[in-house]
Amino acid sequence: MRILITGGSGYKGSVLIPLLLKEGHIITSIDTEWFGHSLPEHPNLNTIRFDIRNTQNIPLKDIEVIIHLANIANDPSVELNPLLSWDVNVLAGYRLIDRAYRNGVKQFIYASSGSVYGIKNEEKVTEELQLLPISTYNETKMIAERVFLSYKEKMHVHCIRPATVCGISPRMRLDTAVNLLTFQALSTGKMNVLGGDQVRPNIHIKDMANVYLHFLNNSDLPSGCYNAGFENCSILNIANRIKKIIKADIIVKESNDPRSYRIDSSKILKTGFSPQYGIDEAINQIAKAFHSGDLEDNPRFYNSKWMKSLNLESQSST
Ligand SMILES: NC(=O)c1ccc[n+]([C@@H]2O[C@H](COP(=O)([O-])OP(=O)(O)OC[C@H]3O[C@@H](n4cnc5c(N)ncnc54)[C@H](O)[C@@H]3O)[C@@H](O)[C@H]2O)c1
Repeated sequence: MRILITGGSGYKGSVLIPLLLKEGHIITSIDTEWFGHSLPEHPNLNTIRFDIRNTQNIPLKDIEVIIHLANIANDPSVELNPLLSWDVNVLAGYRLIDRAYRNGVKQFIYASSGSVYGIKNEEKVTEELQLLPISTYNETKMIAERVFLSYKEKMHVHCIRPATVCGISPRMRLDTAVNLLTFQALSTGKMNVLGGDQVRPNIHIKDMANVYLHFLNNSDLPSGCYNAGFENCSILNIANRIKKIIKADIIVKESNDPRSYRIDSSKILKTGFSPQYGIDEAINQIAKAFHSGDLEDNPRFYNSKWMKSLNLESQSST
């Protein structure tokens, strides 16, 4: 299949694209490459350094499916320039799906987020619950979902709401819970846990890539939103799991952010998807990469700090 991936050079895209190439797909990846470029050279891969806000010029000829990953991708990065984030995460997405439909694209898969629910007391946070986003990032995700789903009579639209992703990618992120604590343990022998009781849902990056592949292979699944997170775990529990694998002390400090959230992924499991990896694999893989010298600290691995250094705060919105 001919697939356009936006944000293909990011943390997820750099694992997803090699998987899709292996499956024989023909990929065009567009990305501003704010965090560099770690994609392989491949005859079936065309990478274009490009901003999705220039929507009119995104090459859509013969594209059958779009996997839309390009967003300002966490709360603190969005706060650097909320207007830029609305432009990228919502307006550019709207223009993209509208052009996609007019160009005969059959399926649109969107990387939403499990954080759209906000804080819930319910034990099972399913797709039916009301969304109460608690940050601008969450709001952009919620509004973008609504825009994309307004096209569901015209094409298949699958909005995936992933948990926090963990594990190794050629374009690494060390600003997400499991990755951050594991790297702290490896590099300093200590993990700083703020609070610790807060629950977070998690998904391994290889399962994440497999989720997108699952929807590609089952494009006639009903349009709609699907949670994707298979381990709800407190931060302290994550630290203890790391401690079992890496010798490190846990230092618990007071937190001013006691928020917990979890997601229930029964809906996607009922479609036949089953996760194959978990938090422990992610910890082991990060440790292995660290010990072999393949993973070193790098300012690019921390989204908001790196984006601050790119001075995107001052970039005008379109
Ligand atoms: N990593 C997670 O834990 C997680 C969890 C839930 C949802 N998501 C979502 O998944 C998607 C991918 O996340 P990621 O972890 O790979 O983040 P990432 O920041 O590594 O990747 C995003 C990529 O999009 C690119 N990009 C951003 N704005 C762009 C623009 N205007 N034009 C072209 N390219 C642009 C960036 O250069 C980057 O390579 C994001 O939409 C994110 O919100 C991520």
